[in-house]
Amino acid sequence: MGKIILTGIKPTGDLHIGNYFGAILPSLKMIEKSKDDDIFMFFLADYHALNTLKDKNEFKNNCYELAAAWLACGLAKSSKVIFYRQSDIDELFKLNWILCNVTPKGLMNRAHAYKAQVELNKTNGQDIDHNVNMGLYNYPVLMAADILGMNTNFVPVGIDQKQHVEIAREIAKSFNSTYGECFNLPEAFIKKEVATIIGLDGRKMSKSYNNVIPLFKDEKTLKKHIDRIVTDSSSVDEPKSTDTTIFKIYELFATSVEKQEMIRAFEKGIGWGEVKKKTNEVANRELAPIREKYNYYINNHKLIDEILQTGAEKAKKIARQVLDRVETLIGKK
Ligand code: ADP
Ligand code: TRP
Repeated sequence: MGKIILTGIKPTGDLHIGNYFGAILPSLKMIEKSKDDDIFMFFLADYHALNTLKDKNEFKNNCYELAAAWLACGLAKSSKVIFYRQSDIDELFKLNWILCNVTPKGLMNRAHAYKAQVELNKTNGQDIDHNVNMGLYNYPVLMAADILGMNTNFVPVGIDQKQHVEIAREIAKSFNSTYGECFNLPEAFIKKEVATIIGLDGRKMSKSYNNVIPLFKDEKTLKKHIDRIVTDSSSVDEPKSTDTTIFKIYELFATSVEKQEMIRAFEKGIGWGEVKKKTNEVANRELAPIREKYNYYINNHKLIDEILQTGAEKAKKIARQVLDRVETLIGKK
């Protein structure tokens, strides 16, 4: 029987090429390599974003931007994919409450995100509950509902989310031992070392470092960012090292022939201006088609709504079956 592979992404801000090479392309590859009867559930974890995002326009726009990004990159194209928005699946929020009642409080006290906030408060001499809302505190339970509510087998996530999947397993075990076998135990599928994409300043590319190359901005803006890549002051005819930020970014987009040519040029000597120009060309060649698709979707909210609605109908069917089983076990039915 096919497996259910599920993952959610929070709609928090502009996507960059680190997300593209580190998360989007690996997901596409995983779909390609999967069995015919596997099901991939991708969802916008919109209500998870509420604990930090309080501006309604930002919330709405971020959701559309993330949906448009996934659609532009072709993540929802395969018939194996169910693409939906968490908040459209009411069943998950009922399940969330039921799961709260089999979740020991101590398990939540140990969750990384909550603990990090408490530590920060201690360091700053604040009350330990400062900036801790119940959305943050209960975050792992809602995430368990996302996962268990869809009968999930595997959860592909970055290492930072591993603990959350382990908590979901604990909650599943706790429910099963209280009421009888119901949930299978989900497993985190930690992406094998996807190389860390480095940013304009040589550190990990991240929106929190303001060193990103944006994924969908126009060609001029792309060029402006590539021009900002930090290089040394060597002259045109001096050989260049390939252990440089610019080369690492160039090779992400170049064909193997182009890469070899660039290595030779580096050995002979080449001006950084020329390298940046070529980097811009190869980057734009890859990004222009998805940018065009992104612009198509982002200007067509109605279409995005329809696609998400279709996904929600399919996801609801699965969630309804799981909730029926749960409600029978707790004695509601
Ligand atoms: P950011 O660091 O910009 O806030 P996120 O934490 O939102 O990015 O990352 C979303 C996804 O993109 C995650 O799966 C993460 O592993 C991947 N990702 C983000 N930055 C990089 C990077 N520099 N290299 C590789 N993957 C990345
Ligand atoms: N917590 C995840 C993150 O911050 C997003 C998420 C929410 C998720 N629900 C999920 C991921 C369920 C996998 C499965 O990235």
